[in-house]
Amino acid sequence: MKACPDVPATLSAHGLSHAYGRGATRAPVLRELALRFLPGQMTLVMGASGSGKSTLLAALGGLLRPDAGEVKFGANSLWGLAPSLLEQLRKREFAYVFQGFNLFSALTAIEQVALPLRLDGEVRAAARSRAEQALAEVGLDRHLHLRPAELSGGEKQRVAIARALVKHPSVLFADEPTSALDSLNGERVIRLLRELTRRHGTTIVAVTHDPRLKPHADCIVNLCDGVAVAERQGAAS
Ligand SMILES: Nc1ncnc2c1ncn2[C@@H]1O[C@H](COP(=O)(O)OP(=O)(O)OP(=O)(O)O)[C@@H](O)[C@H]1O
Ligand SMILES: [Mg+2]
Repeated sequence: MKACPDVPATLSAHGLSHAYGRGATRAPVLRELALRFLPGQMTLVMGASGSGKSTLLAALGGLLRPDAGEVKFGANSLWGLAPSLLEQLRKREFAYVFQGFNLFSALTAIEQVALPLRLDGEVRAAARSRAEQALAEVGLDRHLHLRPAELSGGEKQRVAIARALVKHPSVLFADEPTSALDSLNGERVIRLLRELTRRHGTTIVAVTHDPRLKPHADCIVNLCDGVAVAERQGAAS
């Protein structure tokens, strides 16, 4: 297997190790991983259930402090930052999409996407205009005023993606973003993520079980027994 190419990484991990439990029940999940994630590229993290994919994503995304090792965003070591700076970095540079969409049932699509901007202090009209643009980018310009109950699974996930991308994060972390979708919608969502990656130079780290998504990725990280093997795909078309 070939390693990913040697260009400056947006995000990198060195000696990343983590275990859960204590004493005799302590079980290592990640063992001294070294990984690099490149700008404008989509990496899929694959592996059996329980292999540590979500743990790795949480550690890379600054949501879980690993037992050992380092995660760097550019030159900044996440866990070397003061908690308030890490929080700022997470808010400004990182975005997260999860399997369950996590949408508010009472809000329309445009309100869901405008919300993070409003929470950042953006005025209503500007937030709505940016939200509208983000929803148009994911092909939902005709669904702006629908609530989650009125949207299909694939559309809900696209709203969640628009909400994650509206602030133009440097890195998007997605944990099983397609697992609640049928294969056609799953593939559409992954294609969309890849397109947005290319357009905005976003780095995407996405966990998936679905081998059909492999052709869409730039890199694949296979997790097995706590060890990662990086495998480069051919040019993703
Ligand atoms: N908070 C926790 N406390 C204790 N053990 C945990 C915790 N979170 C995960 N684990 C264990 O760590 C291992 C890896 O879990 P993780 O959720 O990272 O796997 P995964 O590859 O994402 O699995 P899946 O594909 O089923 O989502 C599993 O054995 C799990 O039981
Ligand atoms: Mg998981």
